[in-house]
Amino acid sequence: SPTRDFVTGLPKAELHLHLEGTLEPDLKLELARRNGVELAQSTVEEVQASYVFDSLASFLAVYYPAMDVLVTEQDFYDLATAYLRRAAADGVTHVEMFFDPQAHTTRGVPFADVVNGYHRAAVDGAALGVDAHLILCFLRDLSAESAAETLEASVPFADKILGVGLDSDERENPPAKFAAVFARARDLGYRLTMHCDIDQVGSIENIRQVLEDIGVDRIDHGTNVVEDPALVELVRERGLGLTCCPVSNSFVTDDMKATEIAQLLRAGVKVTVSSDDPAYFGGYVADNYVALVEKAGLTTAEVVTLAKNSFEASWVSDADRARFL
Ligand code: ADE
Ligand code: ZN
Repeated sequence: SPTRDFVTGLPKAELHLHLEGTLEPDLKLELARRNGVELAQSTVEEVQASYVFDSLASFLAVYYPAMDVLVTEQDFYDLATAYLRRAAADGVTHVEMFFDPQAHTTRGVPFADVVNGYHRAAVDGAALGVDAHLILCFLRDLSAESAAETLEASVPFADKILGVGLDSDERENPPAKFAAVFARARDLGYRLTMHCDIDQVGSIENIRQVLEDIGVDRIDHGTNVVEDPALVELVRERGLGLTCCPVSNSFVTDDMKATEIAQLLRAGVKVTVSSDDPAYFGGYVADNYVALVEKAGLTTAEVVTLAKNSFEASWVSDADRARFL
């Protein structure tokens, strides 16, 4: 379609992308064979049929077990490389990719194998025309102690990690639970972001905490801020990026929050568009732009603003990016 061609041709940064959420069925089957991991499914169609969910919790119940096929450093490299090829084809020139080390270290995979595999893929991304970086996410349904241990384990690898984030099950795991961990992360020189998912009870209080108590540099999703004009003004004034994921939203709400996302964009908030877990939600970044444009009726100028916002909300300057490429 013309919209799709226009979106694909625009250089874009992707800022909300879980590497483990890019595990396509064919790669899952290949890695299972390579590592001798028993799967309940044996065809791409069967794996696809198992990717069924209608909430964050039911998604996570499919998501974590699938990671059992990721074992060696090479597996992490192959996963990230497959994503970077798709991102390049979608017109992504800069990406800050989340990864969940605790989902692997708790299965006995060494932290170093995870980071080194992903980082090697990020370095090789330059040959694909993508400037790629890593953001370490803590699993918020695990303890603050576990997050603190993971943060300390990251210190020898700090030159390979741009920042830290917070993902997984938000219910009863508010930002405040990780205040000390994030304060330490900032002292270590990491940039900070946290998920504030759209389908949460107490969402506004969590958004207030990330803004006022944690002092994040960006918010993942965060779309519910629209419910509180004073917080919208705070986000706008600080120039904080919101990383919205329309296709992901469509799994937990009827209208992908398109109206709210457009409202924030038009209010001057640095709204950006990303794909979250594209292998599971069935849409890479261009699909997410197209879905939002069609649902919210965005103008061409607004699409350009979204793409421009994605670079302005990123954590690497234009000058630094130019030096890497
Ligand atoms: N982990 C991977 N994707 C996630 C999401 N959309 N929300 C929370 N945790 C996640
Ligand atoms: Zn996410």
